[in-house]
This record gives sequence, C-alpha cells and structure tokens, in this order.
Amino acid sequence: MAIYAFDILWQPAWGNLSAGHLFAGVTAIYIAYLSFGRRKKVNSLYNEPPMVPYKWPFFGHAFEFEECGVRFLDQCREKYGSTFNIYMFGQTTTVIGTDLAAEALKASDSQLSVHDAANDEIHEHPDIVTMMRAIPDDIAASIVAYEMFPIKWLARLMLPNTAAIDRHYQTIEKLIVPEIHRRRRASTRNDNVHPVDVLQFLINFCDKSGKSYTLNELPGKLMYFIHTLTENVSFSALHFLYDVAGRPEIRARLYREQQKVVAKHGTAFTIEALSDMQYMDACMRETLRMHVHALGTVRKARRMHTFSNGLSVPAGRRCMLHTQATNFNPEVYDSPSEYMPDRHLGKPGVHSTAIGPAYLIFGLGRHACPGRYYATAQMKMFVAWLLRRYDLTTRSGGRPENKTQNGLYSPVEEPIVFTLRHT
Ligand code: HEM
Repeated sequence: MAIYAFDILWQPAWGNLSAGHLFAGVTAIYIAYLSFGRRKKVNSLYNEPPMVPYKWPFFGHAFEFEECGVRFLDQCREKYGSTFNIYMFGQTTTVIGTDLAAEALKASDSQLSVHDAANDEIHEHPDIVTMMRAIPDDIAASIVAYEMFPIKWLARLMLPNTAAIDRHYQTIEKLIVPEIHRRRRASTRNDNVHPVDVLQFLINFCDKSGKSYTLNELPGKLMYFIHTLTENVSFSALHFLYDVAGRPEIRARLYREQQKVVAKHGTAFTIEALSDMQYMDACMRETLRMHVHALGTVRKARRMHTFSNGLSVPAGRRCMLHTQATNFNPEVYDSPSEYMPDRHLGKPGVHSTAIGPAYLIFGLGRHACPGRYYATAQMKMFVAWLLRRYDLTTRSGGRPENKTQNGLYSPVEEPIVFTLRHT
C-alpha cells in the first residue's frame, strides 16, 4: 500500500512533472531561501552578536551540535565571546552568555517574550508534549534541534526522533478529548462532583480576562504539566542519585545527617526535618548547578532588542541561554567542574531554591520557576528515603560520566547497586 502511494506521487501529472517533483522543488527553493536569503539581510542591519561560521547550507551547525552540543557551545564561546549566533535548519538562534543572561531573563515580555517563545516551544506543541511523556529518550535526541527547526512538518520528516511524535499524540488525544467532553457534559448535572485532578484544574482554569483553554489547547497544556512534574524532576533526581551513589564520602556524610534528622524528628518528612537536612540541600544545589542542559531557557524578541553591551537582536529572533556556561562561571565558582557541596554550606541565603545570576537552573526574574520548592523537597525526600534504607553505590564505584546529545545531558546508563541496611 505504501509503495503504491509512493508510485502515485512520482507519476507525471503536468507534462513530465509529478506531484513528487513539485513537492521536492518547492522544498528545495524554501530551504535555499532559508539558507542564503535571510542570513545576509539580518546580519547587516544590526550590531548582531558574531555568527559562528558554518559550512552546510540550511543545516548549518546541526551536525556539530548533534555530535556534542556541550563541547560545540564551549568552543564557540572561547572563539567568539560569551554571546554569539548559531545557525541550524535555516534559522539563526542567539546564544545568550553569562554576562547577559540575567539581563535577558529580566527583560520585559514586550521586549524578550517568554510567551512568544512558548508558542513555538517544544513543550507547547502537542505532538512533542506527548513525546516527552512517552519517550523521554527522544527528547534528549531531538528537543533542541526541533526547537530550532523553523518548519515543524519538515522537522518531523527529517529528524528521526520526532517522527514518532504524531502517533503518540493521536493516542493521547483519543484518551483525553473524550474525557474532557464527558466531564463537561457531567458538569451540567446538579449532582455532579468534580474530580480533583490536574485535568479538572485545567478545564476550570480562566485567565485574568475570563478566557479558558480551548479543547485544542487542553491536551497540550495537560502534557506540559505532566512533563514539568515528572520529566524535569526525575531528570534532576536521577543525577542527584548518581552524584550520591558515585561518591562514597558524600554518601556517608549524607547518611550521618539522616541519622541525626531521624533521631531529632522521627521518620516523617516534616518541613522542620527537611530544613535540618542542610548538607543534603548543599548537595542538591551542587547537583542542580552542574547537571543543567547546555542551552536553557528560551525567549523570542518581540522587537529589536539592544543589550547593555551594545549587541542587539532583531525582532523575531529566538534567544536561548547558555545556562551551563553561567552555572560553571569560574569567576563565581572555584574549580567549577568539581562536585563540591561544601562551597554552598554556611552561606546565608544560599540554598537549593535560591535563584541568582550564577545559578540559572530555575530561571530568574518574573518567570522563575514557582515549582522549585516543591521539586527540591520531592527530590530530597526521595534520596533521604533511599539512604535511610539502602547503601547505594554505582557498579564502577565512581560517578559515571554524563552522555550528551544535542547539548542536553541524557541519563547515564550505569546501574546503581542498592544494598539493604540492617541497622
Ligand atoms: C527540577 C525541576 C524543575 C526545573 C529544573 C524547572 C525549571 C524551570 C525553569 C528554568 C523555568 C523558567 C522558564 C523561563 O523563564 O522561561 C521554569 C518555569 C516554570 N516552572 Fe519549573 N522547573 C522544575 C520543576 C517544576 C515543577 C515541579 C513545577 C510545578 C509544580 C514547575 C512549574 C513551573 C511553571 C508553572 C513555570 C512557568 C513560570 C512563568 O512562566 O511565570 N516547575 N521552571
């Protein structure tokens, strides 16, 4: 059947031309336009950050980024300064460096908009949202590339990891949309009792002007919530577990702290017990500082925006923060690549949720993550619970290296060995 459809595509329809020829031609012209046409115009008009040279039309830096995004961005920073432009899939992205990161995050939404960025953003796209839920490995392999790809349908054709997305989304839609209809029908009955869950919260949600989410928006919004609540937290918790399991002296110190906390507060995870886990909190902050994606938070320029150092970006430009460079700033952190929780201990106001220009894991400014208190408490409880019951180590005994894909840190694969404590 598929072969039959393919044959039809290439059968002459207009003289010698087939639908397939026409499609290939239009795509090629569009790609050429994206590759050569737009690039020159943009760079000559503004005092733009330097463009990192590339040799592949349209694909630009995609291959270098795919090979090792973390290394690629570090090399760009060394050569072109902290803020620079990269080019992938016909689109320029400004990578905002350490010196401008706080400024970018604090800029008003009318200048650098989080909402406009979110309109194209991967977690807002229902297909991608579903992918995040169903196949977390694919996120690491495709999120940044998809984010930068200007034509989403072409991205799905060309990026293998995003190709499965449509199928997943259809499945989710089949499950969620009928449930929304069912609940809306039920809500007209007098005896109806609303379920207390995230879906109901989203169905009832209204913004300040009284507008609620449309039926088309709801599945995507739900998936965003699920993603935020699970993927972000599980990603960081996994790194935390490896950081603890792979470092015997840190593990032993954390266990001693747990023994003291249990002796004082009992086994319940009360707010008082959690706030007495100060070494745990310092470890958590160190994990969050170090295991951050190379490219983080996204903004889109609503109009031409000029930074305090004179560099400017044109309206419509996608800007992404070089979060990792900021969190590893050697002017702020001695030996930034070393896992040193003690660097945070005993400093007033420095704890895992305290955001600042050198700690961007939760963003900064008015859009900083409101879920960070919940997320860190959840991760602390998770690791404390495990430590109280098990001694954990990695198979090699050390902290395994992270894998990087597309500038994202994907989970390491070395097993963690759990040994039940008998005390
Ligand atoms: C380790 C886990 C988490 C990390 C690393 C994280 C990271 C972030 C970051 C960097 C932002 C800022 C985005 C921007 O400026 O564009 C953000 C925003 C946000 N986060 Fe989180 N987050 C986490 C967990 C959570 C949880 C558990 C929730 C919900 C309970 C949550 C809810 C939100 C919301 C609603 C926003 C949007 C705030 C706004 O735009 O005003 N996050 N998060």
